[in-house]
Amino acid sequence: MKPRDIAAGVTRLGVIDWDAELFDAFVPLPEGTSYNCYLVRGNAKTALVDTVEEEHAAVLFAQLAGLERLDYVISLHAEQDHSGSIPQVLARFPEARLVGSKKSLNVLAGHLDISRDRLDRVGEGDSLDLGGRTLRFLDTPWVHWPETMSAWLEEDRILFPCDLFGSHLACSDLYADDRARVYREAKLYYAHIMMPFRAQVARHLEKVRALNPAQIAPSHGPVYREPGFIVAAYDDWAVQPPRNLAMVPFVSMHGSVRRMVDRLVDGLVDHGLRVERLDLSSSDPGVLASALVDAATIVLGAPAVLDAPHPLAAGAAYTINLLKPKARFVSCLGSYGWTKTAVDPLLAMLPNLSAEVIPPVIARGRPTEADLAAVDALASTIAERHAAAGLK
Ligand code: FEO
Repeated sequence: MKPRDIAAGVTRLGVIDWDAELFDAFVPLPEGTSYNCYLVRGNAKTALVDTVEEEHAAVLFAQLAGLERLDYVISLHAEQDHSGSIPQVLARFPEARLVGSKKSLNVLAGHLDISRDRLDRVGEGDSLDLGGRTLRFLDTPWVHWPETMSAWLEEDRILFPCDLFGSHLACSDLYADDRARVYREAKLYYAHIMMPFRAQVARHLEKVRALNPAQIAPSHGPVYREPGFIVAAYDDWAVQPPRNLAMVPFVSMHGSVRRMVDRLVDGLVDHGLRVERLDLSSSDPGVLASALVDAATIVLGAPAVLDAPHPLAAGAAYTINLLKPKARFVSCLGSYGWTKTAVDPLLAMLPNLSAEVIPPVIARGRPTEADLAAVDALASTIAERHAAAGLK
């Protein structure tokens, strides 16, 4: 990637990682990702906002080849995709100071073995005067780690929020003008990285709105030159009520659970709900995470395997609990051969959800007409709950 200006004296550097397939060995990257950093030049001083993964340092150094002096390396977030090259950058520019939050500097000193003599601590409201350009810092913890900060370039009204508002999207576009594509990847990103911290995200959105940025320049994916688009999307995902949507992730070995799931889906649709039906044996894990952003109800479907829930359903329950979606209702469809309690533990795997548990329907083997009638009743109950909550 060649350096590209997003404003006079403000240049996006970094790496487009077209081939990346997984982030944190967990998050699927169907469209790769990018690691953005930004060079901000004032009349007197120059700052580099974030770096790149250590393995991509050579790309960053090629972009910095003509730079004679660097005064500040700003670490907004200590995770290695942004901090991994900091030691090399500090070695290349021995005059540079490393700037970060108190927590991030502790992490960086520990993980990257950086001398504390190089570190300058900043907090909410502190600023760096670059000469005609001022970088002011905002505490924005938990997006994505507890030490995360954002930087606000006052004169240009550009916000650098690091992970917040990011998208794992490798593309040649500097700007997020292909909204449908960016929305899809930003939502997938939000689901995995930001959704567990919805309350904190909501607070940060207030700060961002008050700033009224001209641009938002995250450290993954394209830059937003019309930031209202992504701010509104985040408000929808993090703040607004869930949609009139039920998601039904399931696995079926011999057709019993599938039969119950299909009956439930038909019933929910008849009641006017939208439904995401996800066969866990074949669907992309990213689809599960994205659907969690909007769903008001989650119904897990699983057979027993020996004396426990099917491992694919247990894995899905673990992920759902980890990502803490805003679902208001949960239930379960199950089938078993000889140990009825083998599917019940799924609901107990969701302690992080503030959701009402609607009693599950569990069949012994192939569901009987009575079992299917119970599934119909479950659909009616879910629809009643959604209607009472006024979900749209
Ligand atoms: Fe892009 Fe939390 O690192």
